[in-house]
Amino acid sequence: MKTSTILTHVTFLVAAASVAHAQDSNATATIIAAATADSIDLTILNIFDTAIAEIEDVYDTAPITTRNVGRIGRRATPDNIVDVHAHFVPAWYKAIYPNVGGSEVPDWTMAAQLAFMAGQGISRALFSFSTPGPNVYPGNKILTVALARLMNEQAAAYCRAYPGTFNFYAQVPFPYTTEAIREAEYAITKLGAIGIWVQSNTEGIYLGDATLKSFFQAFNNFSQRPILYVHPAVPVLRINNVLVDANPTTYIDGKIEFYFETARTIMDLTLTQTIHNFTNINYVIPHVGGAYPSTVDRILKSYPTIYDSSFAIYDTRFWWDSAGPTYAHQVSGLLGMGVPKSQLLYGTDFPYAPLAPQAGSLAAVKASPLFTADEKTAIFSGNVRTLFGSIISW
Ligand SMILES: *[C@@H]1O[C@H](CO)[C@@H](O)[C@H](O)[C@H]1NC(C)=O
Ligand SMILES: *[C@@H]1O[C@H](CO)[C@@H](O)[C@H](O)[C@H]1NC(C)=O
Ligand SMILES: *[C@@H]1O[C@H](CO)[C@@H](O)[C@H](O)[C@H]1NC(C)=O
Repeated sequence: MKTSTILTHVTFLVAAASVAHAQDSNATATIIAAATADSIDLTILNIFDTAIAEIEDVYDTAPITTRNVGRIGRRATPDNIVDVHAHFVPAWYKAIYPNVGGSEVPDWTMAAQLAFMAGQGISRALFSFSTPGPNVYPGNKILTVALARLMNEQAAAYCRAYPGTFNFYAQVPFPYTTEAIREAEYAITKLGAIGIWVQSNTEGIYLGDATLKSFFQAFNNFSQRPILYVHPAVPVLRINNVLVDANPTTYIDGKIEFYFETARTIMDLTLTQTIHNFTNINYVIPHVGGAYPSTVDRILKSYPTIYDSSFAIYDTRFWWDSAGPTYAHQVSGLLGMGVPKSQLLYGTDFPYAPLAPQAGSLAAVKASPLFTADEKTAIFSGNVRTLFGSIISW
């Protein structure tokens, strides 16, 4: 590694919290050592060489100097908007999962990401990988655990390269809860993850399932405020022990299935009282709740004992992002549920969302007659600061 890039690494060491291995001149060796300490063999992944090369490249070429730390966003983006719903798609990830929910996985580059943000007035993006996360090899624990780790190392590299501009939610290898707890701890305490990304269902298992309870128990006790990002996934059926896409229509999952996935998993989290029992966990829900606001009364009215207590949680520990064309009409359903405007966040779903509705989402929030100028400013940046507080160095 060149001297200049070593200085670069020292700079983001100072800027980013909990940096584990950037101080080493060989990121590959450090990443392998950390994985080995957790009994994870990253080299069993067939994309290991490509992925680790991309991670090394990010560390070696990140355009960071003392002067531009935290300034990349401010210079380019006067509106200071925080995007809580953005996705990394390194080429190596697309190579192992090229299509999702009936659509091709989009191409993505950091340059395109930064250009998009500048164009939208976004100064900071909170990243995750999108569905299926690390569940590219259903039923294969060793590969799933290794892939989750590699994804988190990649995410951490991108975020360290742009301190002040990017943060990430970590992946965990559900449904393997022991490994998921360990990965969450590693990603949060060593890699600086701000929360954990999970899917509405993992290989057919919804979030309230008893097999995942030990994760919620442990995550509820994490010292950093536990924040769970609940991303929709493709619905599946298990037939003869093979997972089959359960979309009953000829329309892609992105049209409507993802919205029902969000509703299904909030239903499961609620009726199992997972959200009631683990009182530290905050939930970020994309697409202003998908189909949940339309279905909540039907789901809960027959459970009078948990009806009110559930709404009290949706109003305080649930946070709802705007990703997609949600502010034309859909947000009225969430407001109709009584969710305070202070629980609303801004998200884009870049690069997965088609550009037109995405830009429309920004324009729609800005144009909405339902919110005052101050409430819109809070949706764009204030509310997310309340949620994350000191977890993010604003
Ligand atoms: C970095 O570490 C890896 C794994 O130990 C090793 O294969 C590689 O040669 C090292 N690279 C450099 C430049 O030292
Ligand atoms: C979480 O903390 C509570 C209260 O300190 C404790 O009773 C419980 O055993 C802990 N659970 C786990 C899974 O660590
Ligand atoms: C939550 O606690 C209630 C009892 O108060 C119990 O019936 C329910 O099974 C618990 N659910 C979970 C997911 O822990």
